[in-house]
Amino acid sequence: MSAPLSFKPFDPQFRRNPFPIYARGRRESPVMLHADLPIASVFGYDDIVEILKDPETWSSVFPVPAELDARRDLPRSMLAQDPPEHTRLRNLVSQAFTPRMISRLEPRIEQIAQELVGAAVRRREVDLVDALTHPLPMVVIAEIIGIPLEDREHFKKWSEALIATLGVGLMQGAPGSRSIEAQIGVIEEMRSYFSELVERRRAEPREDLLSGLVAAELEGSKLSFNEMLQMLVLLLVAGNETTTTLIGNAVIELLEHPEQLAQLRRQPELISGAIEEVLRFASPVQFDPRRAMRSVELKGCKIEKGRVVICWLGSANRDETVFEEPDRFQLTRPSNRHLAFGFGPHYCLGANLARLEAQTALRVLLERTESFRRLDDEPLPLHPSPVFRGFTKLPLKLVGRS
Ligand code: HEM
Repeated sequence: MSAPLSFKPFDPQFRRNPFPIYARGRRESPVMLHADLPIASVFGYDDIVEILKDPETWSSVFPVPAELDARRDLPRSMLAQDPPEHTRLRNLVSQAFTPRMISRLEPRIEQIAQELVGAAVRRREVDLVDALTHPLPMVVIAEIIGIPLEDREHFKKWSEALIATLGVGLMQGAPGSRSIEAQIGVIEEMRSYFSELVERRRAEPREDLLSGLVAAELEGSKLSFNEMLQMLVLLLVAGNETTTTLIGNAVIELLEHPEQLAQLRRQPELISGAIEEVLRFASPVQFDPRRAMRSVELKGCKIEKGRVVICWLGSANRDETVFEEPDRFQLTRPSNRHLAFGFGPHYCLGANLARLEAQTALRVLLERTESFRRLDDEPLPLHPSPVFRGFTKLPLKLVGRS
């Protein structure tokens, strides 16, 4: 008999190729307690759906370390709230992300993608992360919120600093104090930046999300200044690294499946299915955490009240009871109910936006190039946070269309 399943979620080898461990998990221990970490792992699609749709049993509120708890002026974002607080905060911004609002952004997203890809093709050899996958979502969200473009570099720095250790503390029981200090420092910088911008919108409202939030704040009971700040931090962080990772993973998977890349060049109408397949096959967000509000037994495993469960979305998306030939990358997969954007009340607010950005970026890249390939065979640098499965650099050689 083989040894019981055990793995380290931070181990780079696991993170580069977690799929054999996920498959063993689904087969042998669909819900497992980790011996050396205060967490449980859940691998199966149906169990994960059950957890994510039941916030009364499985909360999104996690204990805050003492250093952060002392800073009560920093409220939790909607991502880390349960209903009814979660519902109140989400309702304040959901209008900005409806399919109708997102489709209005289409021409602007196209224009940004054309400019970035055009410049990349002229340079011939680029790091695609620098040239396209990072700036595209950053510019788009900055414009939705109403942030002046020239301040973009701050956001890159802030977003990277906030996300580097995402998920680490949760898995280890508590984040290290260096990471807390760094995060407080970044949030202070963002607070002073946004204070000024909010003042400007109070004096002179515009047609942007920030003006909408300022109006809600002015009504007093709807949104406090600190909640607004936390909302802006969340939108910046949640929307950027995720979409950057999705576009990068799309290019990587297509390079690894050249016959699928050739088919997509011949049939560009398959792009939206292709992006859904990348979301399933190479999910940018690998896990979604929850905390047990009571003691629960799940698939024969006892989970005590307070324990953090890690719902491996990346595993649910390869579940053989839901997807036929789950380990095959298939652009034309007929039904693709993946969980890459989560499930239930916290289902990704930006899913429509992320899809549109990724489809546009990939379409424009295919239209403007004859071909592209990796510049070398070196392993790509992994994203620092274990939440993500993606790479921080993607050096490519691009051959433009004449
Ligand atoms: C490929 C890109 C993206 C992926 C894979 C992704 C993934 C996710 C996932 C898995 C969740 C659920 C978290 C949970 O259940 O705790 C989530 C929530 C969220 N996402 Fe995304 N996301 C992406 C893009 C975006 C974009 C572009 C935005 C907005 C600008 C965004 C904003 C949010 C927000 C605000 C939440 C919290 C929703 C809530 O708590 O109700 N995301 N995302």
